[in-house]
Amino acid sequence: MKLLHVDASPKSERSISRSLARHFVSCLRKQNVELDIDYLDLTKNPPSYIDELFTIAAYTPAVQRTAAMEQALARSTELCQRVLDADALLFAMPMHNFSYPSVFKAFIDNIIRAELTYVVSSSGQYIGQLTRQKALFITTRGTDMRAGMPLSHMDALTPSLKAAFGFIGVQNPSFVNAQPTQFAAAEEREKALERARNQLSDVARKWAKEQNFQ
Ligand SMILES: Cc1cc2nc3c(=O)[nH]c(=O)nc-3n(C[C@H](O)[C@H](O)[C@H](O)COP(=O)(O)O)c2cc1C
Repeated sequence: MKLLHVDASPKSERSISRSLARHFVSCLRKQNVELDIDYLDLTKNPPSYIDELFTIAAYTPAVQRTAAMEQALARSTELCQRVLDADALLFAMPMHNFSYPSVFKAFIDNIIRAELTYVVSSSGQYIGQLTRQKALFITTRGTDMRAGMPLSHMDALTPSLKAAFGFIGVQNPSFVNAQPTQFAAAEEREKALERARNQLSDVARKWAKEQNFQ
């Protein structure tokens, strides 16, 4: 399985989302899933924010683009190729101010590209191109935003990820949200990590099973 593994926490060794992502990879290996990992650390290698030339180039048909336009799109084109080449996508990130870290937004802005990750049909329908890829989002949150909790309505991260990746064709992604990881007693935080690790084992088992049936 070709796995694109993307980390987006600004923290390195002490990052909880990174450690949960590593845990998931080891769960997959325990399930005897053979992995070819394409690793991307968005903090060390951030995509650019969208600028004016990018916006013009992205909506100019490929055959009409100038060399400068192609240059402006080069990193985005490379990132699109990496998501398209993958069989499975693993995204790990902390919640930052109710949504993703800004570097992950820049990543999304780079991988939603007409003619690459989505196409528009002659009748004007948007057709996402990532229908083949499984996807798992691991998110960490300092507070507990699970359904029924007082802050649950402030989770703008899950719906935003669903919208962006649904648009480019990702169907039925898995979500493992570790919460509360920070603003709670140590016992609550440990329980949250245990819940997340158990859910990650379940997702790994599911992916391994699906792969065996392919
Ligand atoms: C800039 C910043 C903004 C944050 N915003 C939120 C937030 O909106 N909601 C929340 O529950 N936790 C928030 N947190 C806490 C992190 O989501 C939490 O500590 C998480 O476990 C960090 O994951 P990491 O160790 O992988 O970076 C924020 C942390 C930082 C640094």
